[in-house]
Amino acid sequence: MKLIILGPAGAGKGTQSEFIVDAYSIAHISTGDIFRKNLKEGTPLGLKAKEYMDGGLLVPDALTVEMLISRISESDCQNGYLLDGFPRSLAQADALEAAGEAIDQVLLIDVDYSLLTERIVGRRVCPECGAAFHISNNPPKIEGICDKCGAELVHRPDDKEETIKARLVEYDEKTKPLIGYYEEKSLLAKVGGDKPIAQVSQAIKQILDSL
Ligand code: AP5
Ligand code: MG
Repeated sequence: MKLIILGPAGAGKGTQSEFIVDAYSIAHISTGDIFRKNLKEGTPLGLKAKEYMDGGLLVPDALTVEMLISRISESDCQNGYLLDGFPRSLAQADALEAAGEAIDQVLLIDVDYSLLTERIVGRRVCPECGAAFHISNNPPKIEGICDKCGAELVHRPDDKEETIKARLVEYDEKTKPLIGYYEEKSLLAKVGGDKPIAQVSQAIKQILDSL
């Protein structure tokens, strides 16, 4: 199963990805997590990506596409994958198609923008495994500690109010055209992301079980 999860910053892509990859035994590929891992390791790719991420801007397509295409050729993707945060521009979607990847379903998490800032400002993430929590909507069992791997949770540097605005402008300008792109290919399914996390997961399960 080859899936894409699409939606603005804070829609719940990462949160729902955790559920999907566990339920369907596929690899979770988050381009944002890959950039953050590279930055932590101080690689040239991570340092370059930081210049854009800190301002809420998309990392240039050339860097992102090369990294993604190489990642999906790894052995853990043989059973399928879920792309979380890729593609984010028409050029990225075209590159994925040109690489011969046949996508089975694109899930769009549709959320009213008024909910996003509160979700993002209250988010705490695991720098080791990428799991996302929320101080009130989805708290970890032990405050400040990742349920999955025990690492100390952090607040992402791009989760500031002014950066969130820039991320939503980038989404509107560069990523939203993908909705029409995948609708035309009859691959898009919309999921209402305003509901509680478990209800969103249930709606996604219904879609994926009928594939
Ligand atoms: P990325 O890491 O992908 O960030 P994003 O797209 O801005 O999305 P987020 O991770 O902020 O949100 P999410 O939808 O995953 O929400 P989450 O589940 O955590 O990208 C970061 C940056 O990297 C980009 O700005 C760009 O610079 C660069 N980049 C990455 N990919 C790129 C690409 N392909 N091309 C170019 N540049 C790229 O949930 C948010 C919070 O809400 C959590 O606290 C969660 O607990 C809570 N929550 C989730 N669902 C619900 C719900 N239903 N109800 C209540 N609370 C909820
Ligand atoms: Mg995410």
